[in-house]
Amino acid sequence: MTISIRPCDAVLGAVIEGMSLAQVPNSALIEEIETALEKFGVLVFRNQHLSPRQQIEFSQAFAPLELTELEKARLPDYPEIFVVGNVGNGLVSFAPAVPGGELEWHTDHIHHEVPARASLLYALEVPAQGGDTLFACMYHAYNNLDKEKQDLCLQLEGINSAEGLEHFLKRQSLGDTTSSVGKRQYQYIKRPLVREHPISGRRALYFGNQVTIGIDGWEDEDARRFIYELTEHACQSAFRYRHQWENGDVVLWDNRRVLHAGTPYDVVNTRRHMHRTTWRETEPVRLVV
Ligand SMILES: [Fe+2]
Repeated sequence: MTISIRPCDAVLGAVIEGMSLAQVPNSALIEEIETALEKFGVLVFRNQHLSPRQQIEFSQAFAPLELTELEKARLPDYPEIFVVGNVGNGLVSFAPAVPGGELEWHTDHIHHEVPARASLLYALEVPAQGGDTLFACMYHAYNNLDKEKQDLCLQLEGINSAEGLEHFLKRQSLGDTTSSVGKRQYQYIKRPLVREHPISGRRALYFGNQVTIGIDGWEDEDARRFIYELTEHACQSAFRYRHQWENGDVVLWDNRRVLHAGTPYDVVNTRRHMHRTTWRETEPVRLVV
């Protein structure tokens, strides 16, 4: 199978043509996809038709899968599928309530014991307007810090927790916040603010503007200000790709080197129905020294 890779008009992202994700890839194709994923950060596959079983089998060819902690968002009979949007069992959205509202930039599962290496999101039904996903390149974000800030970030560890997500959702007033976060005891997971990509060795910022609720050893207010300023830099428009979804799109992103954020849509009058598989990280999150 010959695939074509067409870079997007942005510092990250590429459209892959000439393959169906309904078929389990062979080892050569797996290598090609993994190489492209590291290089471009975000891969887009258009016009896909995937059953839950096919999505799971494609994903498992690359990595073991992580189940969502939101048990009611697991697809019945296919718990590896995380149902995202407003047509499943309750609203699952981390977008701001209104256009222009604060975003929730993050890398999936940074606040779990085992983070997500990559995530694959399949659009079954999307609204005509809204519900775009923004991606930001954390290689660019790190490389464009001045040397002093780079050196500082290399020394720091973020403290990550779903508590930050709950506070974000409460501010959006999107109804029952537990539908997206889940009720449980919060964990507080420390991660280096800069990680080295296990494939390329390149450095990427690694945090989330809501989920990273502190910096180890810092006062809360200082940490909040630092994370806010870091986000303004890291997620600036020059470092972004914006994906406007169409039915049948699959987007695969590399959580080791991109942050992403959802944008709002009309959750009352339109339908958004997505299936996500989450690829478990199999490499240590290495602190660069
Ligand atoms: Fe996410």
